[in-house]
Amino acid sequence: MKTWSSLADWRVARDALAGQSIGFVPTMGALHAGHRALLARARAGNACVVLSIFVNPTQFNDPADLAKYPRTLEADLMVAAGLVDHVIVPTPTELYPDNYSYRVTEDSLSRRLEGAHRPGHFDGVLTVVLKLLNVVQPTRAYFGEKDWQQLQLVQGMVRAMLLPVEIIACPTEREPDGLALSSRNRRLSTAARVRAGLFPRILRSAPTADAASTALKAAGFEVDYVADETGVRLGAIHVDNVRLIDNVRL
Ligand code: PAF
Repeated sequence: MKTWSSLADWRVARDALAGQSIGFVPTMGALHAGHRALLARARAGNACVVLSIFVNPTQFNDPADLAKYPRTLEADLMVAAGLVDHVIVPTPTELYPDNYSYRVTEDSLSRRLEGAHRPGHFDGVLTVVLKLLNVVQPTRAYFGEKDWQQLQLVQGMVRAMLLPVEIIACPTEREPDGLALSSRNRRLSTAARVRAGLFPRILRSAPTADAASTALKAAGFEVDYVADETGVRLGAIHVDNVRLIDNVRL
């Protein structure tokens, strides 16, 4: 496994991979078993696997959230070992030579649900994903279904911008009590972690989105939204000071 912090050096290595299928997993690090499942899918379907680790400042609408985001590069490289051929760890200056004066904006789905609570978040996500796809030039890129809206928007961008990559949607990995794996889970206190297991159960069992919202509030969560979209119920809540999102099939 080779690690690249300079994009110029990575480009030389990328040229040498011409003709091979490349599976790409973009991440912000703090890797867990959910990321490992994405990497395993990429490993199974491609000759070469590329992982990116970049805590993308432009998708954080709250500077405190960016500051708190876990940065665990050494541990991440251990999680990736055995599944990944190349890890790219770019700097903000290299990925944003324009200082974010150019960006990708979607003005429909990105404004609702997560987008309504995190203004500008999806502009940051789409912009960095487009840059990373340009840098890696993968055959396939792997995204988790836990971030349902992100997945829809990335698929939409690939269609809209005619990008030559296949987006592979991967099922959400869950703890035994149903809680979706997330880098944010490590910020939960023991008590909050136990309560958080109720979140997916209530989303799944409530007869309507409104009923789920009411039941979540009754269970002590602060609810940002619960909404039913085609075939899925999406929700975002706060447990103590940690914001969690999830979705379940209807
Ligand atoms: O899902 C994530 O971890 C991030 O939003 C992504 C896709 C790596 C872009 O920074």
